[in-house]
Amino acid sequence: MARWINACATDDIDDEDVIRFDYEGPTFAIYRGPDGSFFCTDGLCTHEKVHLCDGLVMEYKIECPKHSGVFDYRTGEALRAPVCVNLKTYTTKVEDGRVYIEV
Ligand code: FES
Repeated sequence: MARWINACATDDIDDEDVIRFDYEGPTFAIYRGPDGSFFCTDGLCTHEKVHLCDGLVMEYKIECPKHSGVFDYRTGEALRAPVCVNLKTYTTKVEDGRVYIEV
C-alpha cells in the first residue's frame, strides 16, 4: 500500500535544484522546479546507476553527471542519449513546510 514519507523541508531545496533522499534502502532524487513546485524520481540514473543529485537541473530537466544523459524529472522521460529507459517518478505533496513523497 502506498504511503507518504516526510522527506525534507521545502527550504532544503533551492529553485531549480535537487537533493538526495534515502529511505529504507532505496534512494530518491527530490527536485524543486523553477516555479517552486516539487517532484521526485528514483535517485539513480537508469544508464549506469549514478546518483542524479550530483547532476545539473535546468528548468524541468536533470542532466546526469556521468554521461550527460537528460531526463524530464516531471515525467521521468528519457530525453537525451545515452539514457533510453525512463526514470520512475513519485507523487509529492507539501504540508506545513515539509515535502512528502508517496512510495
Ligand atoms: S550514468 Fe547517467 S547517462 Fe550514463
